Amino acid sequence: MTLPPTQLGLVFGGASGEHAVSIRSAATVLAGLRGGANAGRYGVSCFYIDEQGRWWPPAVAQRVLNGDPVPELSGAADPAGASLPAGFRGLPEGALEVEVWFPVLHGPNGEDGTIQGLFTLMQVPFVGSGVLGSAVGMDKQAMKAAFAAAGLPQVPYLSLDASELQADSEGLLKQIETSLGYPCFVKPANMGSSVGISKAGDRAALLAGLQVAAALDPRLVVEQAVRARELECAVLGVRQLRASVLGEIRFDADWYDYETKYSEGLSHMVIPADVPEALAEKARSMAIAACRAVAADGLSRVDFFYDDSSGELWINEINTLPGFTSQSMYPMLWQASGLPLEDLVHELVLGARESFAQRHHLRGATA
Ligand SMILES: Nc1ncnc2c1ncn2[C@@H]1O[C@H](COP(=O)(O)OP(=O)(O)O)[C@@H](O)[C@H]1O
Ligand SMILES: [Mg+2]
Repeated sequence: MTLPPTQLGLVFGGASGEHAVSIRSAATVLAGLRGGANAGRYGVSCFYIDEQGRWWPPAVAQRVLNGDPVPELSGAADPAGASLPAGFRGLPEGALEVEVWFPVLHGPNGEDGTIQGLFTLMQVPFVGSGVLGSAVGMDKQAMKAAFAAAGLPQVPYLSLDASELQADSEGLLKQIETSLGYPCFVKPANMGSSVGISKAGDRAALLAGLQVAAALDPRLVVEQAVRARELECAVLGVRQLRASVLGEIRFDADWYDYETKYSEGLSHMVIPADVPEALAEKARSMAIAACRAVAADGLSRVDFFYDDSSGELWINEINTLPGFTSQSMYPMLWQASGLPLEDLVHELVLGARESFAQRHHLRGATA
């Protein structure tokens, strides 16, 4: 007997600076869900969230994925549509039939627990971390506090609030200079893609960097700069977490800023990373510990700084919905670890069911 295919809802785009990357990630996930043995397992409906946060049904989503013109979005097809208010105003047609949601959204309004809250309220399984893991993983202050509590090594840092800058900028600059020194990195807590991040080599650059970051987010992080290689590890699973081979990001720039990340040819990946096996093993166990520290499950990419002269390894960050384009580290690390795209996305859907059953069971037990 063949079972009817499971109805999946692939949701992508999003009101985030990583909107365009999300569209490319969704195209890769969709190819995986429609390829190989998955073709008979899944029926996939795509849903698009535009940059204003409005949801669009499969007919529009498919055209966005194909790169075709979509007059509805600009209001050209329907003048009334142009004045649609921004934000979520209810689910589009077809969404209530979805049995498992697959969010492929990066950054704010998608990787941060907001859409995970919606799916939780709907009581429908979804791929990836729940509200807590997504929210903690997104906010660099909360993430760092969770890593520190778990005893994970991080470069020296300070968590600050923009109001401290307004109240006593002189005092704040002195505090940063005394505890971290130069050069240091200034980061808004909730952005991604290196947006709003700057490297400061002196007091003037530090003040300017703090002002730029504070304009984006009142929650700020300042870190001591390290000279280090950048390693990444992919994690997969719910109760049983598995870590991939490591990858390294190499680039011809002082640091991995927005331009270097997204300009063709300015960076490349080395998979597997050329590091001692014992170091790779240590990074893998730290990656799993990092997922547990922030309560992430399903999928995550954990990023590290590695100083190969001292052998020191620091955790930099966790991404709970990492880039998933055909050129992205996450699917490529799994490919190199023996898990091709079709198997990877199938495991992610199975994981969605597993975490749903786990949460449901726990709720039932305490009801
Ligand atoms: N403490 C640091 N020392 C050296 N380089 C850093 C440090 N913090 C950030 N960077 C550089 O900035 C990049 C972006 O920082 P990251 O914290 O990963 O932000 P995002 O979440 O936007 O990716 C890193 O990949 C690295 O190149
Ligand atoms: Mg990063």
